Amino acid sequence: MVTRHEVPRSVSVRAAAKINLHLGVGAVREDGFHPLDTVYQAISLYDDITLTSVGVASLGLQCADYIDPADVPLGADNIGFRALERVRARTGSPGVEKLEILKSIPVAGGMAGGSADAAATLLAYDRLHDLALPDEVLLELAAELGSDVPFSLVGGTARGRGRGELVQPLDDSGTWWWVAVPSDVGLSTPEVYRHFDMLFPNALTEPTGPDSLLIALAGGEPLQLARTLYNDLQAPAIDLRPELGTLIDRGESEGALRGIVSGSGPTCIFLCDSLGGAHAVVAGLRGAGHDVVLIANGPVAGAHLLEHP
Ligand code: C5P
Repeated sequence: MVTRHEVPRSVSVRAAAKINLHLGVGAVREDGFHPLDTVYQAISLYDDITLTSVGVASLGLQCADYIDPADVPLGADNIGFRALERVRARTGSPGVEKLEILKSIPVAGGMAGGSADAAATLLAYDRLHDLALPDEVLLELAAELGSDVPFSLVGGTARGRGRGELVQPLDDSGTWWWVAVPSDVGLSTPEVYRHFDMLFPNALTEPTGPDSLLIALAGGEPLQLARTLYNDLQAPAIDLRPELGTLIDRGESEGALRGIVSGSGPTCIFLCDSLGGAHAVVAGLRGAGHDVVLIANGPVAGAHLLEHP
C-alpha cells in the first residue's frame, strides 16, 4: 500500500508482435495442444505497458486507431491481470498496481498481442518490485500464461518447440521488411487449430521442421526466405476466411515476394525486398481498398524496459 508520503513508482515495458516464419503443426496431443516446430520473429509493432504501484488495482487502455478497444478484455480475464496474479502467487510479493496498456498489436490477429502484454507485465512487475527473478522463472511463468509468451520475452528470431513454449534463439543478422494487413474481425486460435484437426485427421505426430528456412535465414536473401516461409495453419485459416486467400494473391501481385497468414491469422504478412518495396506494396493494397496496412521490420528485441521520465 502506498502511504501518503511515498511517490508512486512506475515502470514501462515494450513488447513486440510476433510472426511465424515457419509453423509446422503435428497431430493434437492428449492435453489438447498441438506439437509445434516453429520459427518466430519479433517485428516492430509494439504494445507498451506501464505498471504503477498505487493503492487501487485498475486497468487503462489506449489503442491505435485501427484497433477496436471493445475487442480487448478489461476484466479479470485480461492477460496482463492474469500475469500479475501468477507472478504474485509465485513470488508471494505484495503490491497493488495500476496497469496501463498502449496497444498497437492487432487483437486476436495471430501476432501474439496478448502474449506481448503478458510478457511485458511479468517483466514490469519484476522490475517495479526489484525482484530480480532469474530468467528461468520468468520463462516458466510465461509458459503458464500461454504458448507464445516465452517468445515475447526472448524476441529476435527463435525456434519454438513443444507447444511453442520451448524457445531457442537463432542467429539472424538480416533486416527483413514486412507488410502486415490486420483484419477487422479476429479469428479464434482454438477454432483454427480445431479446423486443422478436421482438415488433416492424419497429421503426423512430428511437425514439419524448418530446415530450408534456417538455411535461407543464414543466407540473408529475401527472395530465398520468401520461398521457404511455411504455415500449416494457413489452409484452415483460409478455409474459415476465404478472403484471406484473395488478400495474399493481391499482395503478391502488388510486388510482395510472398504473403502468408501470420500464425493462426487472420493478419496476413507480406515479405518485401526492401523498405521501398514495402511502401509500394502498401500503396497497392491501399489502392485495392485495404485501409489498414502496416510496415514493420524484424527481428527486434523481446520485452524490454523503456526509459521513464
Ligand atoms: O497457449 P495458448 O493459450 O496461446 O493457446 C490457446 C489455444 O490454442 C489452446 O487452448 C489450444 O486450443 C490452441 N493451441 C494448440 N496448440 C498449441 C498452441 C495453442 O492447440 N501448440
